[in-house]
Amino acid sequence: MSDALALRNRQDRYGLVAIFLHWIVAAAFIANFAIVYAMKWFMVPRSEEARAMLSYHTAIGVSVLVFVALRLFWKWSNRTPDDVPGTRLEHFLAHAMHHALYLVMIILPLSGYLGTGGPSQLFFVVEIPRFADTAVFQTVVNGWMGLSWEAFEAPMDVIHKQGGAYVVSVLIAAHAAAALYHHFVRRDNVLRRMISPALVKPD
Ligand code: HEM
Ligand code: HEM
Repeated sequence: MSDALALRNRQDRYGLVAIFLHWIVAAAFIANFAIVYAMKWFMVPRSEEARAMLSYHTAIGVSVLVFVALRLFWKWSNRTPDDVPGTRLEHFLAHAMHHALYLVMIILPLSGYLGTGGPSQLFFVVEIPRFADTAVFQTVVNGWMGLSWEAFEAPMDVIHKQGGAYVVSVLIAAHAAAALYHHFVRRDNVLRRMISPALVKPD
């Protein structure tokens, strides 16, 4: 593939595919935080309006898993750009944060789906049955593990709601703050190379 298209990552920068997948997943996460708190803070619980908001949240949440799968595939089939100059501690923290965010990208939407009592829609079009109605739940969770829906749903709910509210929000805010710090204080390529290959400055 010609590098003129800059699709793949290189030693000094991300390619367009990684950039596209990063921002679509980031936008979905930010949208889902905004949607769920708009619902909780400003709408009457279980009203028509609140249910519609929750259906956007679940549809965006299950759909993002498709992009997460593509992102993981792309990550494993492509090199990661080298670290920009920094201390060993900074590099360690950046790598730990990126690994944590990859876990978050899988665990948060998945726990949302597994713990939800209603159906959801992939890309707002394809109906996905609630997990309790699937053969996987009946065979594996109910059959092999011997768990009722209530016993299974409770920990999924804790992971999704408490994890989302108190852990994931802090991780994402710290990650975004680090990107802004690099851009405005360090003035290096960290944010530029996640926006466009054309913005990367030579060292
Ligand atoms: C990008 C993915 C997702 C993010 C960032 C996200 C985030 C959150 C957050 C922050 C909360 C509120 C926690 C609180 O109570 O303070 C929440 C609640 C909830 N989420 Fe998600 N979620 C995602 C995906 C999903 C998916 C895939 C489903 C189901 C298919 C789902 C279903 C729910 C439900 C039912 C609630 C409870 C709403 C209520 O309290 O009435 N979420 N989510
Ligand atoms: C406004 C919000 C965000 C900003 C400004 C931002 C910025 C960035 C930047 C600049 C990088 C490149 C780091 C480097 O070159 O070493 C990056 C990488 C990364 N971001 Fe974000 N990000 C945001 C939201 C998110 C969200 C919501 C997630 C996941 C839920 C996420 C997950 C990741 C991951 C996993 C990497 C590492 C990519 C890799 O090398 O494989 N980011 N982000």
